Amino acid sequence: MNLKGRNFITLKDYSPEEIGYLLDLAADLKAKKKQGITGNSLKGKNIALIFEKPSTRTRCSFVVAAVDEGAHPEYLGKDDIQLGHKESVEDTARVLGRVFDGIEFRGFKHKTVEDLAKYAGVPVWNGLTDDYHPTQILADLLTMKEHFGYLKGLRFVYAGDGRNNMANSLMIGMSKMGVHFTILAPKSLWPNDKLVELCQGYAGESGSTITLTEDTDAVKDADTIYTDVWCSMGEEDKAAQRIALLKPYQVNKDLMEKTGKDTTIFMHCLPAVKGNEVTEDVFESGASVVFDEAENRMHTIKAVMVATLGE
Ligand code: CP
Ligand code: NVA
Repeated sequence: MNLKGRNFITLKDYSPEEIGYLLDLAADLKAKKKQGITGNSLKGKNIALIFEKPSTRTRCSFVVAAVDEGAHPEYLGKDDIQLGHKESVEDTARVLGRVFDGIEFRGFKHKTVEDLAKYAGVPVWNGLTDDYHPTQILADLLTMKEHFGYLKGLRFVYAGDGRNNMANSLMIGMSKMGVHFTILAPKSLWPNDKLVELCQGYAGESGSTITLTEDTDAVKDADTIYTDVWCSMGEEDKAAQRIALLKPYQVNKDLMEKTGKDTTIFMHCLPAVKGNEVTEDVFESGASVVFDEAENRMHTIKAVMVATLGE
């Protein structure tokens, strides 16, 4: 499989086979790292890490993955460069593309990462925008594959803010990989119709299904219950309204028991607001695989960089 020179903007651009390849590569890199073996596939490469929003997992994963493979990562925080202040995205992209070999972007508008990719001339990787968070989905898929041994046919329920970057990206990734996907959320927070339609197409091809519902009974038989914060970065002013809307969809012991399975796992991209979208007891329970997901961010991000930029 040759993904050299490709951008990684959303999983819409990647086939199920290509996603499968990235997961296998990540598993291989992870196994090697556990044996103390790191590579030099990115030796001599310089990587720009642009962050308009804060980050723990994504930033640290890009830095460690780059260094493990011999690259030099350079963190560019929101006040460190001219982007958005004195210089357009198009000009910034053309400058950084002359200096760096690859660019990660985390920020607000999805169009910014698309424009960076359009003008940089080097691979651009999306480290989260208001609309999508594709590197997180690779970590989640790897975690599920490690836990269950397979993906196709698993039943996945996402409870909470059903139209944020995580819900959008999970719907794309799960429908492409044959995982039955349910959004459990109040109707006002369902994903947009166009994206649902697109993902229904992916689900049709992979043999999975997409369900949107307000009924918590939908968790019956779920293998995974996933949630994310009720207010994403930039939406902090919506807290009171979201708590009122989403309280019935909190992932707590009752909801986990409603699956009727004692094998259901709990997943969360983190950071979590315990007491809102998830209770402390579920977060800390044996069902929770949240720190496996967090670790897998590094291995999967490494796979993306190695596949698109590595020698
Ligand atoms: N899950 C995730 O993207 O975490 P950070 O915001 O800490 O990068
Ligand atoms: N939906 C969250 C994801 C954080 C990783 C946010 O955008 O803040």
